[in-house]
Amino acid sequence: MRSSTFFTLLSAITSVVASHEPPPNVPRSIEEFRQKYPYKTKGNSHRKVVKIRSSRNETDDVSNEFKAGLKRANHGGTLYLPKNELFIIGKPLDLTFLDDVQVHWDGEVKFTNDTPYWQANAFTHPFQKSIMFWKWGGKDIKIYGEGVLNGNGQRWWNEFAGREVLDPNNEYLRPILFYAENATNFEMQGIHEKDSPCWTNFIVTSKGISFSDVIVTAESNNASSLPKNTDFFDSLNVEDLTVKRAWVNIGDDCFSPKSNASNVHVDTMYCNGTHGQSMGSLGQYAGEMSFVKDVVIENVWLLNGQHGARLKTWAGPDVGYGFIDNVTFRNFYQANNEYSAFIDSCYFNIDTETCAEYPSMMNLTNISFENFTGYTSGKYGLAVAKLTCSTNPNAVCENITFKNFNITSPCDGEPVIICDGIKGDTGVDCVSSNSTEAIAALSKTCSVPLATVSPSF
Ligand SMILES: *[C@@H]1O[C@H](CO)[C@@H](O)[C@H](O)[C@H]1NC(C)=O
Ligand SMILES: *[C@@H]1O[C@H](CO)[C@@H](O)[C@H](O)[C@H]1NC(C)=O
Ligand SMILES: *[C@@H]1O[C@H](CO)[C@@H](O)[C@H](O)[C@H]1NC(C)=O
Ligand SMILES: *[C@@H]1O[C@H](CO)[C@@H](O)[C@H](O)[C@H]1NC(C)=O
Ligand SMILES: *[C@@H]1O[C@H](CO)[C@@H](O)[C@H](O)[C@H]1NC(C)=O
Ligand SMILES: *[C@@H]1O[C@H](CO)[C@@H](O)[C@H](O)[C@H]1NC(C)=O
Ligand SMILES: *[C@@H]1O[C@H](CO)[C@@H](O)[C@H](O)[C@H]1NC(C)=O
Ligand SMILES: *[C@@H]1O[C@H](CO)[C@@H](O)[C@H](O)[C@H]1NC(C)=O
Ligand SMILES: *[C@@H]1O[C@H](CO)[C@@H](O)[C@H](O)[C@H]1NC(C)=O
Ligand SMILES: *[C@@H]1O[C@H](CO)[C@@H](O)[C@H](O)[C@H]1NC(C)=O
Ligand SMILES: *[C@@H]1O[C@H](CO)[C@@H](O)[C@H](O)[C@H]1NC(C)=O
Ligand SMILES: *[C@@H]1O[C@H](CO)[C@@H](O)[C@H](O)[C@H]1NC(C)=O
Repeated sequence: MRSSTFFTLLSAITSVVASHEPPPNVPRSIEEFRQKYPYKTKGNSHRKVVKIRSSRNETDDVSNEFKAGLKRANHGGTLYLPKNELFIIGKPLDLTFLDDVQVHWDGEVKFTNDTPYWQANAFTHPFQKSIMFWKWGGKDIKIYGEGVLNGNGQRWWNEFAGREVLDPNNEYLRPILFYAENATNFEMQGIHEKDSPCWTNFIVTSKGISFSDVIVTAESNNASSLPKNTDFFDSLNVEDLTVKRAWVNIGDDCFSPKSNASNVHVDTMYCNGTHGQSMGSLGQYAGEMSFVKDVVIENVWLLNGQHGARLKTWAGPDVGYGFIDNVTFRNFYQANNEYSAFIDSCYFNIDTETCAEYPSMMNLTNISFENFTGYTSGKYGLAVAKLTCSTNPNAVCENITFKNFNITSPCDGEPVIICDGIKGDTGVDCVSSNSTEAIAALSKTCSVPLATVSPSF
């Protein structure tokens, strides 16, 4: 490389970094996140406190004790898991009998990694062939503390390597770390959910769900087996859901309610290396109606991921129908993501011809992307957002707007937004994916270094 070329390159990189100063006061690590949003366990002295023995070693299964402890604490008490104590769970637990119970969780609860045992014995849910270590349910349940819930995922990721979860032929199932069904008024605070084999949380047919001050990580020590599909949050059929102050560093969607979610509020999330803030996927199952409505997702930092704000709906010969209505994504800072806003109406991985023949049957209405700043990865060149509506004449795609949208591309040129099939004004200049502008924009690819946040807050 000639030195002049080298310096041009260097200055190009420097100018990218310099012109993309992230907003101030952004934590760069779990420690800084905790410093910015301190979480301290507050004791609740008037409740009865129940203790159980902890594990003596990594194979000392205390699942019977754990369940018995919750039974004793049920109806007004607190199960206490002290700091520096380990609780190994080696059997599936049905904890759906809960009623006014708390878990003061400062210790570590860890699942065994006997993969064949769990695959043969875990609970199951038909949605995307999910399996679960345990199931929680009932009402007025609060889990809080500075402790850890550890899925011991490394062996699962190693053995799963090379497979795809949505591949209909995949038989290697991995358990979800935290599962609740039929829960009313459930709260999780402060806990570090670590190394889930698959999705981190899955909440089904529940109402009044809240997660706050949680840390969610899934980090592999093996470069050839990634922590795939470790989504922070998935749900079916939930109402009144809030997520506040979460630090997420996992290998799939940062937040992704699926069929039937309403009244959802997310405020303050840091997502690194994720697939974004996603509505869905929705409409996967033939004949089934599904919807997401009344959602606000705000104050989000998304770094080094796939997409930013995303809506994904299935298309194909055997899919469902439904709608996404009233979703606001606002105050998003993004660095080094592919599309900062993305509507994918041809989920999952179907080719253009099939998608055109069997377009999605989901209506998309009243969606807004407001106050977006930052820059993309350059994978799609100058195209920084792509909204593709279904070509189905019966699928409404209306009132989808951008406001104060300022996402730049690291590649050389003005950013381009691609829209297809949206009815009405989007609030920005938007070009069709077939236009010469879009084709030129997509061809100007480039790349950026891994995004870090500096200076410190
Ligand atoms: C682990 O602890 C259990 C219970 O005390 C004991 O029976 C077992 O032998 C221990 N296993 C190892 C490997 O130390
Ligand atoms: C759901 O939980 C409530 C109590 O919270 C209980 O009365 C009801 O039977 C449960 N329903 C199912 C289907 O388990
Ligand atoms: C890393 O993962 C690969 C793929 O599953 C596996 O073949 C290899 O044994 C793993 N390495 C270690 C040290 O576990
Ligand atoms: C979603 O709601 C629709 C309409 O009420 C219902 O038919 C469908 O079964 C629900 N899906 C789930 C997963 O609960
Ligand atoms: C963010 O993700 C990247 C790529 O996965 C990783 O290298 C980096 O360590 C992560 N940063 C933090 C603060 O977790
Ligand atoms: C849209 O959703 C938000 C968040 O749930 C809610 O506050 C608002 O009332 C909804 N708007 C309409 C028109 O229903
Ligand atoms: C989609 O919109 C059309 C036109 O307004 C409406 O007839 C249809 O019922 C909507 N579908 C759903 C699932 O809401
Ligand atoms: C826009 O979003 C950034 C975070 O990305 C935030 O710091 C800023 O306050 C927001 N602006 C407004 C007007 O809300
Ligand atoms: C468009 O959607 C936004 C929410 O994203 C809503 O506030 C507004 O009222 C809608 N406008 C119309 C004309 O329906
Ligand atoms: C879109 O929002 C407007 C304004 O809140 C509302 O009147 C309309 O019903 C919404 N559209 C759908 C399909 O729900
Ligand atoms: C958009 O962001 C860039 C930096 O990312 C900044 O230089 C520019 O002034 C911003 N434009 C507007 C209109 O805010
Ligand atoms: C792009 O052009 C092709 C070929 O003319 C056409 O079939 C397709 O519908 C167009 N797509 C859009 C989004 O306009």
